[in-house]
Amino acid sequence: MKIAIIGTGYVGLVSGADFANRGHQVTCVDINEARIEGLKQGVMPISEVGLPELVAAGVKAGMLEFSLDARAAIAEAEIVFCCVGTPLADDGRADCGMIYEVARTFGESITKPTVLVNKSTVPVGTAMKCEEIIKKELQNRKMLDSRPRVLALRGDPFFAVVSNPEFLSQGTAVRDTANPSRLIIGSDDAWAIAQMELVNASFITAGVPKIVMSRASAELAKCAANAFLATKISFINEIANLCELVGANVDDIAASMGLDKRIGPAFLNAGIGYGGGCIPKDTAALIATGHDVGYEFKILPAVQAVNESQRRILYTKLCEFMPERAGKRIAVWGLAFKPGTDDVRSAPSLQIVQNLLADGAEMIAYDPTAQKNAAGLLPQLKFAKTPLEAVQEADALLICTEWPEFAELSLEKIAEMMSNKLIIDGRGVYRNVERPNNVKYWTVGCG
Ligand SMILES: NC(=O)c1ccc[n+]([C@@H]2O[C@H](COP(=O)([O-])OP(=O)(O)OC[C@H]3O[C@@H](n4cnc5c(N)ncnc54)[C@H](O)[C@@H]3O)[C@@H](O)[C@H]2O)c1
Repeated sequence: MKIAIIGTGYVGLVSGADFANRGHQVTCVDINEARIEGLKQGVMPISEVGLPELVAAGVKAGMLEFSLDARAAIAEAEIVFCCVGTPLADDGRADCGMIYEVARTFGESITKPTVLVNKSTVPVGTAMKCEEIIKKELQNRKMLDSRPRVLALRGDPFFAVVSNPEFLSQGTAVRDTANPSRLIIGSDDAWAIAQMELVNASFITAGVPKIVMSRASAELAKCAANAFLATKISFINEIANLCELVGANVDDIAASMGLDKRIGPAFLNAGIGYGGGCIPKDTAALIATGHDVGYEFKILPAVQAVNESQRRILYTKLCEFMPERAGKRIAVWGLAFKPGTDDVRSAPSLQIVQNLLADGAEMIAYDPTAQKNAAGLLPQLKFAKTPLEAVQEADALLICTEWPEFAELSLEKIAEMMSNKLIIDGRGVYRNVERPNNVKYWTVGCG
């Protein structure tokens, strides 16, 4: 099928490249000129394992192209995927301004029956609002009256808006997109559902569970999933805090809980809280949705409160060990909100580094992929080329992201290079490792 993808970020670029490699003709559109220019030269705007190869294969096969011209791409397409951002607004609601902009452009541009698919995470009712925007544009263009006769006779619309939430995880986005856990089709329009089944035929044949539901249910299904993951993280973090007080080890408890099939092992890693562009935003947006319709969540505000205090824990601990931080050289390992990604949106590391810079500390960080993104936000932060270079002569080491390469380094070697052998491990990288006697070590959930 001919596909237009609007928004070429983590969701749009990976989905577009995957669709192209499944035999669809895909145009990925963005308003960011540098992003599109870079992609035309083979430069990836985000870091994801396997993405450069997937994009290159799609381009080489002539099935994937990049463009700044949304109108032309939409006019050509049979199906348009909206993958633009929905950041958290100041009022705690998801800002759907970019989604509505895409809906307007869609209404201004379609020339034949076309489906608009919201892959972005949106609050309940967004598809309905998109539909109203598109109808208005089509009325302005007198297009509703000029729909193909056969569709008009059947009473079919000229367009449909489908909710199709995306469940990929950053860090494993390519793998997740190729092997989705489920395919959610939020629509009650038979023609649109058939188009969705056609574009997703290879997934359906491969046995990916498909659930057709109302648009409101599909919109809610995504936010509910992310809010539940946030709940799991805050739950294990509270258990970790208790472990510290009673002399238990949270890893052992998480391992035991995870073996219970009703619970499962994922999202039970105690640490310094969740971050990123999705889980915090989707949890807040769900609370706001409830509030708007007169339902006040009780669990989710507590989940948020636990996360907020958990995010402060590393800084608080460091202050206990090091009451005077001005002039101290402090190394930070990991800036990304989790391993496998270069994304620093709402990453716990940012606030910690900001606090320590404000205290007058000299901060030197290492992250294998996220240094460029962090540099844009924290101009005073210095960077090292390797983790060991970062700890050279350091007065303390803070671990904010559990990149696997950190666990491979020897604690003896790290300690040898540091002036003051203080390690505050926010992710439990060395929780279960024997530690040299001269190292002062603290981690979450280890009493
Ligand atoms: N990142 C994830 O792991 C993930 C997973 C599932 C769902 N989601 C959801 O998917 C959506 C997109 O997330 P993302 O992380 O890919 O965002 P992103 O910020 O990485 O990418 C969004 C892109 O859209 C572009 N854009 C904005 N307005 C545009 C317009 N009018 N026309 C063309 N391009 C436009 C931006 O320039 C940007 O490149 C969000 O709603 C997010 O919550 C994200």
